[in-house]
Amino acid sequence: MKLSGQRVLVTGASSGIGAEISREMARRGSHLILVARGAEKLEALAGELRENGATVEIEVCDLSSDAEIARLAGRVLDGDGAPDVLINNAGAGRWLATWETEAGYAEEAMRLPYLAAYELTRQLLPAMLERGSGWILNMTSAAGFLAIPGATAYAVARWAMRAFSYELEAELRGSGIGVTLLVPFEVDSPYFDNNPGSRERIPKIARLIGEMTPADVAQEAADSIEHERRERMLPWRGRLIYRLTPPPLMRWLLSSTGWKRQKGQA
Ligand SMILES: NC(=O)c1ccc[n+]([C@@H]2O[C@H](COP(=O)([O-])OP(=O)(O)OC[C@H]3O[C@@H](n4cnc5c(N)ncnc54)[C@H](OP(=O)(O)O)[C@@H]3O)[C@@H](O)[C@H]2O)c1
Repeated sequence: MKLSGQRVLVTGASSGIGAEISREMARRGSHLILVARGAEKLEALAGELRENGATVEIEVCDLSSDAEIARLAGRVLDGDGAPDVLINNAGAGRWLATWETEAGYAEEAMRLPYLAAYELTRQLLPAMLERGSGWILNMTSAAGFLAIPGATAYAVARWAMRAFSYELEAELRGSGIGVTLLVPFEVDSPYFDNNPGSRERIPKIARLIGEMTPADVAQEAADSIEHERRERMLPWRGRLIYRLTPPPLMRWLLSSTGWKRQKGQA
């Protein structure tokens, strides 16, 4: 699907990967609907994109609230209608072992990215189906394909995004709406400042893969939609290592180079 002239809704557009995806989509001629909680950052980005000729709307929304998602979807549908492209990118979550988390954390980790993506997609899909065309890009992480020690609730929410994307793709076959699952390894974004203690737990084996920039990910996101890819793991070194490593060896590499419980830690 060509991105030029399409209305693209990006969640988590105020920072990191989402901000770069918005810039990349604007460069390719898309009209943007930027969604996040941070109004000032959205305003600043919208100003920059408008200066470069893009049409931009801002929607301030806390996606951890179903009521706010319903209001957001209502405004979008009552305005110019469902977007042509929905980018479910917003996400947060600290890397913690099961016993390190507080009661309710498993549920909180599911709110974003998974439940927010599910709920927003659920609200926008009927209008997209009626139109019979469109694209949905779901952002997950390599953590949704691996067993990373010390990051349980975070990783489970990423596995949920993966399953959600596959299910959507299966049920939307023949509808004119395509689905891409994007699967980055480590990206040098503000994520690690926003979710302290997480970067330190990335297994050392990931050094073989290296970090991507948010701009690299944005380019892959846009290319994946334009080339109608079902799934894209990135960068290529991560994709290669994932494909060539037998699962038992991968589990051993992750647990032997990853976070370990200190002796005596509860
Ligand atoms: N960085 C990595 O290494 C990496 C790797 C693989 C996948 N990813 C995924 O890529 C996505 C983007 O992450 P990033 O690296 O760009 O991190 P980031 O810089 O922390 O950006 C997260 C974005 O999500 C938004 N967000 C968080 N909670 C929200 C809420 N309750 N309601 C609405 N928006 C909310 C934030 O906006 P506000 O705070 O303004 O609301 C922000 O725009 C996430 O899903 C992340 O899991 C990241």
